[in-house]
Amino acid sequence: MSRGYEQIGVAMTCRSFAEYERMFRLKPELMEAGPILDVAAGASSFVAEAAARGLAAKAADPMYELSAEGIYRHGMTEIEVSTGKLTKLPHLPYEDESFGLVLCSHFLFLYHEQFDYDFHTRALRELLRVCRAGGEVRVYPVITLQWDRYPMLDLLLEELRTAGFEASLELSELPFIPGSKELLRVQK
Ligand SMILES: C[S@@+](CC[C@H](N)C(=O)[O-])C[C@H]1O[C@@H](n2cnc3c(N)ncnc32)[C@H](O)[C@@H]1O
Repeated sequence: MSRGYEQIGVAMTCRSFAEYERMFRLKPELMEAGPILDVAAGASSFVAEAAARGLAAKAADPMYELSAEGIYRHGMTEIEVSTGKLTKLPHLPYEDESFGLVLCSHFLFLYHEQFDYDFHTRALRELLRVCRAGGEVRVYPVITLQWDRYPMLDLLLEELRTAGFEASLELSELPFIPGSKELLRVQK
């Protein structure tokens, strides 16, 4: 029996504020300190719900280049997005140190067969670039679509620590995928 499930392209998903709260163990003080950036936010309602609660939050995702109708079509058909486009250098359209909390749910680590280690380190650097000193970056989950721990996780943690960041794995309160207990927390 094979483990995990086969995924072609990157899935479009729509996790809620309540799910993010539990996945990332978000407490009101941390979110209120904000502003918050949700990276690879896709169709998640986290930012809309956060804004409705009076929190300062923004969402970034390459999918937002599409029109509303285009996003709808994308969701309806779950089309395969070209790997070439997806593997572009991650660049977030924000100034350095713009956010107190930067979240990335179900994108990094999960798709490690499509995105190599170099992509992951560049992506992490970009998340940290837009995070202000004293703020933090949280990534969930830290496993792959095969439901194995991201194979380069220890090296990544070591590199983050060598670069002067406090990097730790903490328990998530919402294990979406079997065996997925941890989130990555990097303090800048
Ligand atoms: C599985 S969804 C996660 C959506 C949301 N964070 C959630 O947990 O419901 C993965 C998202 O990654 C986005 N994505 C794909 N390639 C990307 C890239 N190179 N940089 C940033 N986001 C990317 C996709 O558009 C998609 O919305």
